[in-house]
Amino acid sequence: MMTTKLTLPQLPYAYDDLEPYIDAKTMEIHHTKHHQAYLDNLLKCTEVDFNLPLEEMLVKYEHIPAVRNHGGGYYNHNVFWKMMSPKGGGEPTGELKSAIEAAFGDFANFKAEFKKAAMGRFGSGWAWLLREKHSKKIRIESKPNQDHPDLAHSIPLLGLDVWEHAYYLKYQNKRPDYVDAWWNVVNWNFAAEQFKK
Ligand SMILES: [Fe+2]
Repeated sequence: MMTTKLTLPQLPYAYDDLEPYIDAKTMEIHHTKHHQAYLDNLLKCTEVDFNLPLEEMLVKYEHIPAVRNHGGGYYNHNVFWKMMSPKGGGEPTGELKSAIEAAFGDFANFKAEFKKAAMGRFGSGWAWLLREKHSKKIRIESKPNQDHPDLAHSIPLLGLDVWEHAYYLKYQNKRPDYVDAWWNVVNWNFAAEQFKK
């Protein structure tokens, strides 16, 4: 195994801080077991230069299935924790609000489209709100498994993990209820910062 600076990031809040929308046990298992396992398995990939910046490394080696799966899982969860906050919820403001209205008409329609992406992903995967790197255009996309978004050309603003491990303890088979509840913890401040990058 090569030396690496990659570590499991601490959550920016406590496991029970997203209650009642996301329960503490789910958060703890998700972070300490699932996220940790993606990192551990990524570090077993011997062909990878871990000294590269993470996003660059993921793009460079995305043809290697283990990097795509475990590296994607590591990266997706790194950003996912930041996309939620106990002080989250509500609606975006400023430039991001305008971009959402330009792309989707209004906030309610944006939420409906995002939910469609989250619900339309059969099996495990993610729904993303992305901004193009070289323009301020935004779009919604869903990805299967732990495939990360197109990081060469886009910046993730929001992402929703729709693997059952993200919601099963509290919501069982009711993915729509999890998606609806998630809006209460969405960190619009983080999304706005990403949008400005
Ligand atoms: Fe997950």
